[in-house]
Amino acid sequence: MNSESLYIKGNFGRSVLPKKPNETMKIFVAVFIGSLFGFLVGFSFPSLSLTKLNITSSLICDFSKVGHKFSSNSSRNIRDALPSLIGSRNNSLQSPNMTDLLKIWVPSNPRGAERLPPRIIANESDFFPRRLWGKPSEDLTHKPKYLVTFTVGLNQKNNINAAVKKFSENFTILLFHYDGKTSEWDEFEWSKRAIHVSVHKQTKWWYAKRFLHPSIVAPYDYIFIWDEDLGVEHFDAEQYIKLVKKHGLEISQPGLGPSNKGLTWQMTKRRGDEEVHKETTEKPGWCSDPHRPPCAAFVEIMAPVFSRDAWRCVWHMIQNDLVHGWGLDFALQKCVEPAHEKIGVVDAQWIVHQSIPSLGSQGQSENGKAPWQGVRERCRKEWAMFQNRMSNAEKAYYLGKGIDPSNFTSH
Ligand SMILES: *[C@@H]1O[C@H](CO)[C@@H](O)[C@H](O)[C@H]1NC(C)=O
Ligand SMILES: *[C@@H]1O[C@H](CO)[C@@H](O)[C@H](O)[C@H]1NC(C)=O
Ligand SMILES: *[C@@H]1O[C@H](CO)[C@@H](O)[C@H](O)[C@H]1NC(C)=O
Ligand SMILES: *[C@@H]1O[C@H](CO)[C@@H](O)[C@H](O)[C@H]1NC(C)=O
Ligand SMILES: *[C@@H]1O[C@H](CO)[C@@H](O)[C@H](O)[C@H]1NC(C)=O
Ligand SMILES: *[C@@H]1O[C@H](CO)[C@@H](O)[C@H](O)[C@H]1NC(C)=O
Repeated sequence: MNSESLYIKGNFGRSVLPKKPNETMKIFVAVFIGSLFGFLVGFSFPSLSLTKLNITSSLICDFSKVGHKFSSNSSRNIRDALPSLIGSRNNSLQSPNMTDLLKIWVPSNPRGAERLPPRIIANESDFFPRRLWGKPSEDLTHKPKYLVTFTVGLNQKNNINAAVKKFSENFTILLFHYDGKTSEWDEFEWSKRAIHVSVHKQTKWWYAKRFLHPSIVAPYDYIFIWDEDLGVEHFDAEQYIKLVKKHGLEISQPGLGPSNKGLTWQMTKRRGDEEVHKETTEKPGWCSDPHRPPCAAFVEIMAPVFSRDAWRCVWHMIQNDLVHGWGLDFALQKCVEPAHEKIGVVDAQWIVHQSIPSLGSQGQSENGKAPWQGVRERCRKEWAMFQNRMSNAEKAYYLGKGIDPSNFTSH
């Protein structure tokens, strides 16, 4: 029996936290008698006609709530007393099995928590730090509305420092450290209020799957999941959010300014004359449909920004063993509808992809190949695996619905 189950409030008009077992028993008895009295009063209330009294769910619910507050002993007492009490009024009420009825089982609760009364369930959490003292209700003086994560190594310290400064106090800052070096960041004032997660040599999507569960990041309107090698000179996060809201983007990224590496996709290239763009033209033959990736409904995986709802879907699509995230950009469109309107690139707030080899060079050399080659090969392999899994999953779904997927062409 723990102290929580002894927290009794109500009939005494005050809260009691008894320490000695004797005291505890006294309180149980008192509460039991008190609630029994309440029960009888409720019972003899005239408006509650006896014919209506076939153990309505609310009555049972009240009782199970009461019963649950006490030790199993006192709830057993209630259970023993209840049938005879009711029976004296209407025998047919004895037939529902009280032992069963007093057991809590709520199928609409989250899976595994069916035994809990719904009102105690805290199905979501947050990253807001709390104090060890004082009133819990007064812990949070400030609740950031947005989350930004960077996957970092200490070599990119200065770049990340510059990037973090572009995010206001309305952002929670979360760093995923792949090199195990965390205390070295303390020289920055913001590092003390940041959250640091350190696991050796893992990738952005590995961290995202493990530490950004949708029910944990639920308080945030938008979630930025960014690489460490981004130049943010022409970027301001608050302005970015304004544009994303204005244009109804559920999944977005800042436009990519000119860089020495050159760009892979036309879609993510920054346009100078617009706030936001949602489609583009690619090289001939690259797009089977102008509303589909890579011509529309497409952002890359280096600097994506997700709305809460979009992330709830995308998180489920991230595979536990495929950690580089290749191919994910082509599949993001499955999470929003209509994708070509809700996925886009913000031109007015833009970044530069510096393409600094970081985690990409942290592989292991095998068969005489450079570490980066091994990483690159794995990226490609994962892309193919992801595509296969997606198309097999879709086929299985349609077959399950009695639709032959070979009868229509899939995009
Ligand atoms: C007992 O309640 C049932 C309804 O559940 C009703 O049909 C029956 O008439 C009641 N019996 C008496 C004695 O009131
Ligand atoms: C129930 O109460 C009796 C004494 O009244 C005690 O010996 C027993 O341990 C209690 N059982 C539980 C489960 O608390
Ligand atoms: C009531 O439930 C208990 C425990 O589930 C069971 O042992 C008992 O047989 C049930 N009684 C009736 C009348 O169904
Ligand atoms: C959590 O509970 C709240 C309130 O009951 C509900 O609105 C929300 O949808 C729930 N979230 C999940 C993930 O079940
Ligand atoms: C933070 O959010 C509040 C509320 O939306 C806003 O008034 C404030 O300007 C924001 N802070 C900055 C630095 O933009
Ligand atoms: C698919 O096409 C085949 C032949 O083209 C046809 O026999 C079959 O009925 C079609 N299936 C569905 C579900 O339309």
